[in-house]
Amino acid sequence: MSDHHETAQQAQSRIDAAPDLAALEALRVEYLGKQGSVSALLKTLGKMSPEERHEKAPAIQALRQSVADALAARKDELEAAELEARLATERLDLTLPAPDAQRGSVHPVSQVMDELAEIFADLGFAVATGPEIEDDWYNFTALNMPESHPARAMHDTFYFPDTAPKGGKMLLRTHTSPVQVRTMLDVVKNNPGGAPIRIIAPGRVYRSDSDATHTPMFHQIEGLVIDRGIHLGHLKWTLETFLKAFFETDDIVLRLRPSYFPFTEPSVEVDVGFAIENGKRILGGSGDEPGHAWMELLGSGMVNRRVIEMSGLDPDEWQGFAWGLGVDRLAMLKYGMDDLRAFFDGDTRWLSHYGFSPFDQPTLSAGVGARS
Ligand code: DAH
Repeated sequence: MSDHHETAQQAQSRIDAAPDLAALEALRVEYLGKQGSVSALLKTLGKMSPEERHEKAPAIQALRQSVADALAARKDELEAAELEARLATERLDLTLPAPDAQRGSVHPVSQVMDELAEIFADLGFAVATGPEIEDDWYNFTALNMPESHPARAMHDTFYFPDTAPKGGKMLLRTHTSPVQVRTMLDVVKNNPGGAPIRIIAPGRVYRSDSDATHTPMFHQIEGLVIDRGIHLGHLKWTLETFLKAFFETDDIVLRLRPSYFPFTEPSVEVDVGFAIENGKRILGGSGDEPGHAWMELLGSGMVNRRVIEMSGLDPDEWQGFAWGLGVDRLAMLKYGMDDLRAFFDGDTRWLSHYGFSPFDQPTLSAGVGARS
């Protein structure tokens, strides 16, 4: 008995002195492990006679218990100390300045859409939208492009297997012009006699095309004015006023060139004069001046009376003009970018270079984007 008492005391002081958890574990193995000295003592019990076992077992059990208790107590102490030490070294210093967060930027297309919406809002235009998955009828037929019309060939797009409610297939719209038809039909529905219309329709359009100046998805902004007594003069003034505001210069010279679109009659292509300075196109002056040239900017014309009629208005009473403009190309021109594909690569280096800070120049981005 006194032997075990001594062993217990010795174990206790060694355990209390264990400097860390690894040393403590070594002691546990030494006493209570499979080959441990206390385990060996316990094993001797099996070979004893019942009387002898009755006599010696309590002391051996007590020894095992005291060693186990000592180990547990020291383990608690060491763990608490370790936690203290960790808390002391890992304390957060809340006074450190936070690392600069990477800020997002407004994409040049969103920026230009906003600038256009603001300019046209000043001229009294509202923003209208239509679906990107469009009915063949709105995209083509109602715009005077019946099935097998040759102009459809320039608008090769992506078709869906579903038959459209108004005939043909559903498709990804090839231009924003179907919004003209939808807007006129809406006006007629709410006001059967018709009413003046002044809208722009910005949005995504699709064609099966891909090279440095064409992407399968791009952006257009459509314009439509319907009223009594509208003529080409109104069209020219509106586009000139808008381009001067957009390019922030009064030196804008336009040339209206006869053209053909099924949905306008007459149709005009609008060119703008520019010069090349240091390899960049600088708008201004007539394209006929020396060192200057004309650049095609947009398609436009007086709305074809057949389109007005198909949209439910009387073409003898209501006339109008319309135009369709590539937003991406306009952005490239204003901000000096040369590869259209970069617009849609999502490269954050390009975006942080060409993007706009939403804080420097508050725009309508959220509003227009959310509605289109
Ligand atoms: N929708 C035509 C296109 O995408 C562009 C266009 C031309 C729109 C003349 C018009 C217009 O509204 O009057 O090629």
